[in-house]
Amino acid sequence: MSQKITVILGSPRRNGNSERLAAALLKGAAEADYKAQTIRMHGLKVGGCIDCRRCWSNGTHCFLNDDMKDVYAAIDDAAVIIFASPLYFFSWTSQIKPVWDRLLPYFHPNSKVDVRGRRVILLATAGDTDKRCFDGMKKSFHLSCQYCEWTIAGEVYAYDVHDTGAISKKGDWLTRAEEIGKSL
Ligand SMILES: Cc1cc2nc3c(=O)[nH]c(=O)nc-3n(C[C@H](O)[C@H](O)[C@H](O)COP(=O)(O)O)c2cc1C
Repeated sequence: MSQKITVILGSPRRNGNSERLAAALLKGAAEADYKAQTIRMHGLKVGGCIDCRRCWSNGTHCFLNDDMKDVYAAIDDAAVIIFASPLYFFSWTSQIKPVWDRLLPYFHPNSKVDVRGRRVILLATAGDTDKRCFDGMKKSFHLSCQYCEWTIAGEVYAYDVHDTGAISKKGDWLTRAEEIGKSL
């Protein structure tokens, strides 16, 4: 049976730089037997965690009734999870950050779904010409993966790409993403 790759798109832009990175990775992964599902966060209603801890008391997904249920469904059975996100103010976009916070239900002994050991990939883009712009996001990603007991299967930090589609004109970022896809 084919394994599943779930792509979580954090950009509000259609066919923007991070989405192009994700497409390149999926192109690379196409030869392997993977089934891909893409979740575009922009347009979904996903609120922030309200720290009620109800998920921890009954082992279920978050009790809040919003579009996060679709994200949970896409994560529950994914072998590989890809976060594709532009850098906004040196951090995650507001579309993707609530996804991280709402992962909380998985990380309690009561959780009915065990997501530990999943492979995860970060595809990040930024307009800045200095790659240090990613320092905060990278640290957040690494520490979060450590907490989640996730294996990092690849990272692309594409900088100096500001306009939509700039990533297709400069650098070898798309090739790097495709190579990661091939390696899965
Ligand atoms: C609200 C906002 C904040 C941004 N903050 C940063 C930033 O802190 N550093 C940076 O290098 N680029 C920043 N950018 C530029 C985007 O990261 C860049 O254009 C990226 O390529 C967009 O990716 P996308 O095409 O996938 O949306 C910002 C853009 C917006 C709209």
